[in-house]
Amino acid sequence: MKALVLAGGTGSRLWPLTHTTAKQLVPVGGQPVLFYGIQAIVEAGITDIGVVIGSTGDGIRAALGDGSRFGARVTYLRQERPLGLAHAVRVARAWLGDDDFVMYLGDNFVIGGISDVVRAFRAERPDAGILVTRVPDPSLFGVVELDEAGRVVRLEEKPDCPRSDLALVGVYLFTSAIHEAVAACTPSARGELEITDAVQWLVDHGRTVGATTITGYWKDTGNVADMLEVNRCVLEGLSPEIAGSVDAASEVVGRVRIEKGARVERSRIVGPAVIGADTVIRDSYIGPSTSIDANCAVYGSEVMFSIVLRDSRIEHAGRVESSLIGRSVRIVGTVRTPHAHRLVLGDHSRIEVAV
Ligand code: DAU
Repeated sequence: MKALVLAGGTGSRLWPLTHTTAKQLVPVGGQPVLFYGIQAIVEAGITDIGVVIGSTGDGIRAALGDGSRFGARVTYLRQERPLGLAHAVRVARAWLGDDDFVMYLGDNFVIGGISDVVRAFRAERPDAGILVTRVPDPSLFGVVELDEAGRVVRLEEKPDCPRSDLALVGVYLFTSAIHEAVAACTPSARGELEITDAVQWLVDHGRTVGATTITGYWKDTGNVADMLEVNRCVLEGLSPEIAGSVDAASEVVGRVRIEKGARVERSRIVGPAVIGADTVIRDSYIGPSTSIDANCAVYGSEVMFSIVLRDSRIEHAGRVESSLIGRSVRIVGTVRTPHAHRLVLGDHSRIEVAV
């Protein structure tokens, strides 16, 4: 069995962070969200992994390499444009051959991994297997309708009037039967070749499509609120470790990981939290559910329930919370009159200022 990981796309919902960076590489709990997916695939016993990449492919290649650090062998498959999930399967057709495969959307996060569902699929071997989960706003997802016996009746991609609250999770199990279905797809209203339509094709042609309802936490991490929530969730399971230095005037409480070369001076860190390699925290408070990436500086500030990406500085900025801060950002507090905000913000930035 192979795995096909989708790491192309544009990530427009996470702009401006993803103007240049792949959304699958935004770190949560101290590592890119994509790594959790790769680890879950390897844990399920699959080591032959095809990764679909698009315009942000260089970053994905740099992060995953040949896959050996995960115990996997990664093959990159270039998708010229993000024309849809079924299009990605077409791109991967030759590499996949007639093997069974799990298709994993690189911005999804499944707590507890996928080993059980892969095992069940291998044992029962329906033509395809999908995972569903109950969500409060199904219209943001592919929506699945099941009959009383739990059989898949209908799938619709982001419908205005969802027929159920069962959302498609971004993990699909396929036999080679999917290729005929994908070949039959035509562009949807949003101009994409939808995997949802391909699975519907299988249902309509009498093929067996199994649906497993999962209750474990998962998220499509396509927006900021979800990203912070996934980060919080991952940090709940953090194993504490202090590889950096903490001076005698500082206090570290709860599950905290302080990576190599990081320095904590005259500060209080309340976990769960990660302080990345070579980051300096001075005269500051870092509160729960916070990931600070490598090589950052936080001076005289408070940061909580936030993600801060590498090379950023927060100095005398008061309290920063529920924030997703990109790379090489500078936030500096000043005392001057008139009392005004001075901002240099990239396109599509969004800030809330306390007034
Ligand atoms: O996350 C679950 C949802 O994922 C499902 O409920 C939907 O049925 C499914 O269509 C999909 O919807 P999204 O709109 O959230 O998909 P998104 O465009 O975010 O793409 C998902 C992943 O696949 C992401 O890592 C980018 C990658 N991708 C996407 C497209 C459209 C590609 O690699 N190539 C593509 O052409």
